[in-house]
Amino acid sequence: MVKSQDIYKVVRQHLEMEEFLSGGFAPKEKTQEKDSKEANRQNEMSESAKEISKIAEEVRECRKCELGSQRKNAVPGEGNPNARLVFVGEAPGGDEDAQGRPFVGRAGKKLDEVISACGLKRSDVFICNILKCRPPENRDPRPEEIVSCLPYLQRQIELINPEIIVALGAHAARTLLNTNKSIGQLRGQFHEYYAGIGRAPIKLMATYHTAYLLRNYTPENRRRVWEDMKKVLVELGLPVPQ
Ligand code: URA
Repeated sequence: MVKSQDIYKVVRQHLEMEEFLSGGFAPKEKTQEKDSKEANRQNEMSESAKEISKIAEEVRECRKCELGSQRKNAVPGEGNPNARLVFVGEAPGGDEDAQGRPFVGRAGKKLDEVISACGLKRSDVFICNILKCRPPENRDPRPEEIVSCLPYLQRQIELINPEIIVALGAHAARTLLNTNKSIGQLRGQFHEYYAGIGRAPIKLMATYHTAYLLRNYTPENRRRVWEDMKKVLVELGLPVPQ
């Protein structure tokens, strides 16, 4: 005679086997956990995209300094709102003012070359400037313009929270690092950008502005920019194209 204890054991084993074969055993919990983590990540990503476009709207409405009434278009910046790498230039030039997009003129084409030499696409990174409007005749940004405009960039960086910022040229590097040192002194090494109290500093690489590079297109300057970008790629754990 079969003992009732044995029947329970057989039934339990049968049910466990059924559950296992239908994918309902322990791994299910792990899959659910993974799915919800992925959903959270997607949510955070679209939140960041929404906030970035809100800032862009504010920039387009901005009249905090006189550049606001002189521009054709504000240039808030563009790219991947979750980029690991953010490029920061000085201010829009004529082409950027005409199109409302950053780095689309000659210096922009050179930046595109730098980005693709790194094995990346423009859509992988975020590109923006210290000033969001073009200074007349492309003159240097004035301190009061930087003071008015900087909060937009600070918020963009805080939201994107990149692993690395590349500051293109002296104005971007000096502003973000709050220093008066020359670009020659600053380039080629990582510095720290402080994105706010309680937040880990973000690594910042300063290098020559692509407009400077175009004006001084020597093998030495090209090599320097490439050396700086190679350090960035290594830090990001990305392959360094030869
Ligand atoms: N130079 C800059 O600094 N920014 C641009 O967007 C274009 C040229």
